[in-house]
Amino acid sequence: MDSPILQDFLNELHLKYKSMRDGVLANYIPELAKADPDWFGICIVTVDGQIYEVGDYEQLFTIQSISKAFVYGMALEDHGRDYVLTRVGVEPTGDSFNSIVLDESSKRPYNPMVNAGAIATTSLIKGSGPTERLVRMLDMFQRYVGHNLFIDMPVFMSERTTGHRNRAMAHLMLNFGMIDAKIEEALDLYFQQCSLMVNCRDLAVMAATLANNGINPIIKDRAVDSRYVRDILTVMYTCGMYDFAGEWAYTVGLPGKSGVSGGLLVVVPQQMGIGIFSPPLDSHGSSVRGMQVCKELSERFGLHLF
Ligand code: DON
Repeated sequence: MDSPILQDFLNELHLKYKSMRDGVLANYIPELAKADPDWFGICIVTVDGQIYEVGDYEQLFTIQSISKAFVYGMALEDHGRDYVLTRVGVEPTGDSFNSIVLDESSKRPYNPMVNAGAIATTSLIKGSGPTERLVRMLDMFQRYVGHNLFIDMPVFMSERTTGHRNRAMAHLMLNFGMIDAKIEEALDLYFQQCSLMVNCRDLAVMAATLANNGINPIIKDRAVDSRYVRDILTVMYTCGMYDFAGEWAYTVGLPGKSGVSGGLLVVVPQQMGIGIFSPPLDSHGSSVRGMQVCKELSERFGLHLF
C-alpha cells in the first residue's frame, strides 16, 4: 500500500467523521461519562514499523474490554489451550457484553470476550498473590506497547464500587466451580486491566504486534508466544464485537475488539494494526466513528480476509 495514499485517506476519514454526532458516552461506569465526545484519533502501524496517524492519537483513555484479548493470550501461555478451554469456551453468545449467561451443560462462560468469560480468564493468571499477578499482567501489556503503562485510579475505583453486575457473574461462576474462591482478587485484577491507560497509537502497536505473529514491530521484542496468536485472533474475529460480531465479520472481515471508553483495535494479519479512539458508542458498546472508519478502510484497501 502506498504510504501517502494511506495517510491522505486517514486525514479524509478524520475530516469526514469528525462532525458526526451519533452515539452516546458509556455512563454505567460513572467516570467514563466525563469523556469529551469530540475526541477522535486514528493510528495505523504496519508490521515493518511505519506509523500513520491523525487527530487525537495521543489522548489517553482506559483500554477496557480491548484488554480481554491480551489477557486471554496470557492465560493460554500460563496454562495451555486444553486447560483454558475447560474454563472458558470459544462460542459467540449473540448477546451483549455484560449478559449474565453461562453454557447450560458445561457451566463455562461462552467466550473470553464477554465480561463473564473475561473475568474467568483473568482468574487464571498465575502469581503468588495479587501484586505478583498485577505485575505479570503489566509486564505482558508493556511488551505489547513497548513502554510503561499506568492504571487510571478514578476509573478503577469507579468500576470497583459500581461493578455489581460483574460481581454477580463472578459469584455465579464461583457457584459452579468455574473460578476459585478468591473472586474479589480476580475482580480487582479484571477492573485493573480494564483501567489501563493507552492512546490509539498504543492500540495500533498492540494490534500490529498480533499482525506480526507476536513480535512488537517497533521495539522488535516478542510479546506473546506465536502459538497463541491464532487463538487470540480467532476469538476476536468471532466474538470481539459481541452481538454485532457476525455483521462485523461480514462487512469489515477482520479480527477486532472494542471497549466502552471508545477504543477500537483491529488486526490486519501480516500487514498492520489499526487503533481508533472516539468515545460515543453504538447500542453494542462500540465506537460509532470507529466502526465507520473500519468499514471504509476495509473497503478502500480490500482488507476483508475473504
Ligand atoms: O466490565 C466492564 O463492563 C468494563 N470494564 C468493560 C466493558 C467493555 O469495554 C465492553 N466493550 N465494549
